[in-house]
Amino acid sequence: MKFFVDTADVEVIRDLADTGLLDGVTINPSLVMKTGRPFLDAVAEICELVDGPVSAEVAATDYPTMIKEARRLASIADNVAVKVPLTRDGLRTCREMSEVGTMVNVTLCFSAAQAILAAKAGAAFVSPFVGRLDDVATDGMDLIESVVDIYDNYPGWSTEVLVASVRHPLHVVAAASLGAHVVTVPPKVIEQLFAHPLTDKGLAAFVADWERTGQSIL
Ligand code: E4P
Repeated sequence: MKFFVDTADVEVIRDLADTGLLDGVTINPSLVMKTGRPFLDAVAEICELVDGPVSAEVAATDYPTMIKEARRLASIADNVAVKVPLTRDGLRTCREMSEVGTMVNVTLCFSAAQAILAAKAGAAFVSPFVGRLDDVATDGMDLIESVVDIYDNYPGWSTEVLVASVRHPLHVVAAASLGAHVVTVPPKVIEQLFAHPLTDKGLAAFVADWERTGQSIL
């Protein structure tokens, strides 16, 4: 399973890129707003930090403007995945950009029917939002299971299931159990993935015992 970070914060991305665990980045307009930075500059900087796909979202909702924005974003770097909403205009943009070899991430997917359309439109990624479904008392992971099953029926489809709107570590574990191709994780949840109190306790004991040996490895 590929591991993306869901943030537009360049410093956080730089820090994670250093771990070698990062396969890509997803950004949305709300995340851009939080940084207060010029969007296009941030995308260019992030694309240099990360080799994998960097999803940068169009702002327009109408096809004529969306396709222009998509081309502008795609021109920033080869690893830009243009993000479009799961609408008629978004899928039309997806089809056109995919045909010229640009990766497209179709976002705001909330049903299996929508995910089928994204695959038909040639999307590189479809992003079902699990946390936002959970918020309305619908199990987001049921959607992931269903989309993974459907896509498995059609080996010719190359769209990857990108689990988005992740809220906690169990979403990541469930995504992996279901065979999702990608999970995009907020920085806070990435920190939670590393953490276990028994790791901290065990390490403290090993460090103390090693000091008592009076030895050095180097
Ligand atoms: C993914 O591409 C989206 O940016 C993101 O996962 C949305 O998450 P949220 O529902 O926590 O805003």
